[in-house]
Amino acid sequence: MVEIALPAVGTAAAWRDAVRRLAAEGVAPEAVRWSLGPAAPDLFAAQDARTRPEPALKIPRPALAEIETALHHSDPGRFTRAHMLVLALSRGETRWGDRSDPAQHRVMAEAKAVRRDIHKMHAFVRFRELPPEGAQAENQPSEVRRRFAAWFEPTHPVVEPAVPFFAKRFGDMDWVIATPLLTARFIAGHLTLSETPADQARPPEDGTERLWQTYYANIFNPARLMTRAMQSEMPKKYWHNLPEAELIPQLIRDAPARAARMAADLGSLPAPETAARQRNSRLPQRPAIGSARPQTLEDLAAQARACTRCPLHCNATQTVCGEGPADARLMIVGEQPGDQEDLAGRPFVGPAGQLFDRVATEAGLDRSRVWLTNAVKHFKFTPRGKRRIHQRPSSSEIEQCRWWLGLEAELIRPQAILAMGASAAEALTGSGANILRRRGSTESLPDGTPVLITLHPSALLRQPDAETARSQTEDFRNDLRKILSLVS
Ligand code: URA
Repeated sequence: MVEIALPAVGTAAAWRDAVRRLAAEGVAPEAVRWSLGPAAPDLFAAQDARTRPEPALKIPRPALAEIETALHHSDPGRFTRAHMLVLALSRGETRWGDRSDPAQHRVMAEAKAVRRDIHKMHAFVRFRELPPEGAQAENQPSEVRRRFAAWFEPTHPVVEPAVPFFAKRFGDMDWVIATPLLTARFIAGHLTLSETPADQARPPEDGTERLWQTYYANIFNPARLMTRAMQSEMPKKYWHNLPEAELIPQLIRDAPARAARMAADLGSLPAPETAARQRNSRLPQRPAIGSARPQTLEDLAAQARACTRCPLHCNATQTVCGEGPADARLMIVGEQPGDQEDLAGRPFVGPAGQLFDRVATEAGLDRSRVWLTNAVKHFKFTPRGKRRIHQRPSSSEIEQCRWWLGLEAELIRPQAILAMGASAAEALTGSGANILRRRGSTESLPDGTPVLITLHPSALLRQPDAETARSQTEDFRNDLRKILSLVS
């Protein structure tokens, strides 16, 4: 038997090289035992496993791509199956795309499961923000990158193909994703993968925020990990006999400075939205989930700024909290902050906000006496060139954010609420029914607080012609007058 242990990082590439060498040496798939793990004895030491060398392997590119994807499945027989299929394809014993071939069928099904798992990882990794490193965090320069960490358990070993997505998407942050097998680190723009040390292969059972923070702080620091990894590979007691060991203490001492230099070398000024996000990162960080129920609006805002209940916090510059007097009798709810609100950190300051202000003044409504907020507190957008295009929040994002809206209503206790647009109406009433049919009608919160439904001011900016815009604006003005009539 030939034993081949593939590395956990670079598995597919190592498997491909091994298969080429095995074919050149004429080692049959049945004579190979594959595993993931530390390096094996010499591949070709087992003379008795050799038969006839294969000519150079020739397989269609799409076949190789699919086979290599399937190597990230967790089935222990995948390496042998893939090896056999490569030989069968190369010898012309089967044609790529023939689903009646059980081996191809199985490999395709495994590749599909792997792609699904990668997709799930992209969708379900939940980052938690870590405080800036070092005690002097408050005084750090604004280029300091925000730090995030996540624990994730994929069904299959898909970390390697899955993480480039995160590097692209969250390129302006430092982050770590730990999984039972591999840990991916993206520090100062460099992505690295390493095996997860045994003592970090599981986060604390008791997931209280303090323990999570300690766990994440541990898995985060590459310098600390390097020290540990070095010491476990090469325990200290052997150092005095090893000439190269002299270098280790210095390497360890230099590691933080080297990391800082790497970060400084990035050099460029942050984009405005990144700078705003960095400013926000120095605000008090409090966990959203599992923390004490806020007793004041200030508490609520502090907690909401650390909210990671849904993925929108990852791309938005900051949480945009509601604003207004704590004793406001009227609460007005929009959909979500737009581009300008996201940068300014205040609701309704962009074009829709300006239109709202104008019509509100005409209706006799004083914005400074209203609690003005949004159903969703983070800006959802898709980047297009340099622009960020607004995207409607999903029902699940609205649902996650209802926690904050509910607390706002509880602390303000308004006499009436105006829901502007479908997302606000859904957040307040739980119903996503057609907004055009509900416009002008009054529904209520479970405690009886009246909720008047109206269109969102941005809808007034999108009317097809001037006359429709005028009459819709008139209706909106009347809705503002109506809500005013509901409060004393
Ligand atoms: N649209 C909203 O719904 N809210 C804002 O804060 C800005 C635009």
